Amino acid sequence: MSKKFYITTPIYYPSARPHLGHAYCTTMCDIIARGKRLRGYETFYLTGLDEHGEKIQKNAEAAGVTPQEFVDRIAVTFQNLWKTLDISNDDFIRTTQPRHEKTVQKIFSHMVKNDDVYLSSYSGWYCVHEESYWTETQVGEEHVCPECCRPVEKKEEPAYFFRCGKYLDRLLDIYNSNPKFITPEGRKAEMVNNFIKPGLMDLSVSRTTFSWGVPILEADKHVIYVWLDALSNYITGLGFWQEDDSNFQKFWMDPETEIVHVIGADITRFHTIYWPMFLESLGLRQPNRVFVHGLLMMKDGKMSKSRGNVIYVEDLVNRYGVDAVRYFMARNIIFGLDGEFTPESFVETINVDLANNFGNLLNRTISMIEKYFGGEIPQISGNLNDLDKNLHETALKTIQSYEVYNDDLKVTEAYGAVMNLVSAANKYIQDSEPWTLAKDETKKDLLASCMSHLAHVLFLAATLLKPILVTKSDLAFDQLGIPKELRTYEAAVALNKLGGLKVAKGEPLFPRLNANEEIEYLKEVISSPKEKAAA
Ligand code: MSP
Repeated sequence: MSKKFYITTPIYYPSARPHLGHAYCTTMCDIIARGKRLRGYETFYLTGLDEHGEKIQKNAEAAGVTPQEFVDRIAVTFQNLWKTLDISNDDFIRTTQPRHEKTVQKIFSHMVKNDDVYLSSYSGWYCVHEESYWTETQVGEEHVCPECCRPVEKKEEPAYFFRCGKYLDRLLDIYNSNPKFITPEGRKAEMVNNFIKPGLMDLSVSRTTFSWGVPILEADKHVIYVWLDALSNYITGLGFWQEDDSNFQKFWMDPETEIVHVIGADITRFHTIYWPMFLESLGLRQPNRVFVHGLLMMKDGKMSKSRGNVIYVEDLVNRYGVDAVRYFMARNIIFGLDGEFTPESFVETINVDLANNFGNLLNRTISMIEKYFGGEIPQISGNLNDLDKNLHETALKTIQSYEVYNDDLKVTEAYGAVMNLVSAANKYIQDSEPWTLAKDETKKDLLASCMSHLAHVLFLAATLLKPILVTKSDLAFDQLGIPKELRTYEAAVALNKLGGLKVAKGEPLFPRLNANEEIEYLKEVISSPKEKAAA
């Protein structure tokens, strides 16, 4: 039986056109999902939109349309963006879909029956933007939201509450029995010290002050709190309590399935305190990991529309191609830490890693195989020297680290290991001096071995990089003359399949950029985006 893997992004608020910050998380999850599929895992990748709540209702009113029309319009921009970035999600959940709404109502009814929620009334400081209540101490004298610093409003309303106390011990058990449940680890201490130790209050899980939400069947005027509604997407998207629940059985209920939620730091509390409790109330297993990624920052702070420092993905992809943009995200922002986008680092990454290192290795290798062997990749000969053996060893170690890093969600490191192999192969060319070997007929075997080693390392590198380089890896395979049926992980890691294939030189994979010109271009699109959204 194949190993199974389920990965999710947060479902985004369709309140405005998505920017590179939103695209970051979706792209990283895509790279992870593609990496698992490559290695033979049966994988389900879910993303979507969180379409209810007061903020959406207010935005729609301001735009003079119904909330449904408003979210329908923005949903198109998200779906187009995922196409632009070649995102391989298996489903796209929207919380206004009947499959979701009906199931969330059943979930709520179950919680009422199970005495996990009760009706009472709530008063507190409410932040419309974060859809969250805060206490007097949390909002301070200025009465601003501790999360987004916007002004909060005092509110009182009847509300259902979830009995957090009932599941607190179980939550601590989950933390203790699975040290990787919250990663990076520092995030766990934050949750325990900031929210659990001071005393966890019951969570209000219904609202009556606005209507744009899933109606509660048990009480008039109540809609389900947007976070209970939103978090449930991770199971409703798989068919939980629906007619066809085969994906749910396979990707949630099977204890062998690894389940990973990837989220931004701003929503850790909801995913690592309340979501596990909701799952306990439903009698369901827990995810294996909640991985908290960092923020994509600009020189002047977090990328956000209100700061006027956003980059739209279309402006980058149309000029540099999808692979370069995906590569920048994976390699320049350490997965799990905040990272900065600067025009300089973007251009340098493309030039140094993709044009000079990977692209150049392919170019040089194909030219030499054409020049010395009439374009045919020579068979590996038995005659290996130390340089060949070292490169082979490095390739084997790279495969090992790639797998370990990927399994541990160390995306930046996994692809760093591949790029180190590419650098090692470039150095191997310098050290082996094939141009000198070619002058001596008695060294023909060594020359053949050198070309064969380079071709196999390129095949391996292009294969391991494919989850990022979704279009260019195939161009590399074309140039190496690798037939479609051979483009598999198993063939690449075997490191001995290419003898006799015919290479064919093509265009450089990543033409070197003129740094000054491109930095100017990027500075300009940060202040005034060029590509308009499709809707
Ligand atoms: N709708 C909730 C999540 C519900 S999940 C059950 C929400 N949506 S959001 O639109 O605000 O998006 C949240 C996610 O978008 C963050 O957790 C993060 O993953 C991503 N990002 C938004 N801006 C970002 C950056 N500037 N940088 C990196 N990621 C960013 O909260």
